[in-house]
Amino acid sequence: MKATHPWQSISNRLTERCVINPIWSSILLMKISNRIQLSVPEISLIASSILARKPCNFLVFGMGNDSLFWKFLNRGGQTLFLEDNPHWYQRISQKHPHLNAHLVQYNTKRSQWKDLLSKPADLGFPLPQEVEEIPWDVILVDAPNGWRNDQPGRMKSIYHASKLIRPGGDVFVHDCNRTIERIYSSTFLGNENLVASIGRLRMFCIG
Ligand SMILES: C[S@@+](CC[C@H](N)C(=O)[O-])C[C@H]1O[C@@H](n2cnc3c(N)ncnc32)[C@H](O)[C@@H]1O
Repeated sequence: MKATHPWQSISNRLTERCVINPIWSSILLMKISNRIQLSVPEISLIASSILARKPCNFLVFGMGNDSLFWKFLNRGGQTLFLEDNPHWYQRISQKHPHLNAHLVQYNTKRSQWKDLLSKPADLGFPLPQEVEEIPWDVILVDAPNGWRNDQPGRMKSIYHASKLIRPGGDVFVHDCNRTIERIYSSTFLGNENLVASIGRLRMFCIG
């Protein structure tokens, strides 16, 4: 059996402590020890939505160092991850084999965003059947990568979040400091549904 690195077991313990008591100080320790990119207020806002509904159906676009925390926080619920980078998928899945994750392909380039905005029919892409069938209570869009024109951009993930969320559900979009994330979330999730904006994170309560 593979031995757990001492630092890994410390991070796992801090993650579990944060799940039991997700106050800012424990979120901060968990964020630092796991090298999570989301800020403490951003994690706290998403966590409060999950805790208000748990056990719930939680869909996350993108795997990351925060994945285990989301799975633990939504204990008893369904937490599913969609990842497009095969190497990253393998790395996180090996580190945390109990995560429920699917590899997906977006087949877009960020540079196409203006063109695709007026062609929602082209924003469809094949999703695993279980993703289509589950009424998602909470969706976090933190992928695919979209900081360069040759990367996929978040056009399809934001569009699909708007289609997959159940009425009354919460959608979180990260990196809304960027034009595409801002415009696509306003267009498909609706500015009238925007209920909070913290740091680079926007929260939409749909319907
Ligand atoms: C923005 S990250 C998710 C960050 C996470 N929510 C956090 O706070 O740490 C999402 C995407 O970035 C990519 N990514 C993140 N870190 C990476 C790494 N070290 N190497 C390769 N891809 C990475 C993955 O493809 C993933 O889908």
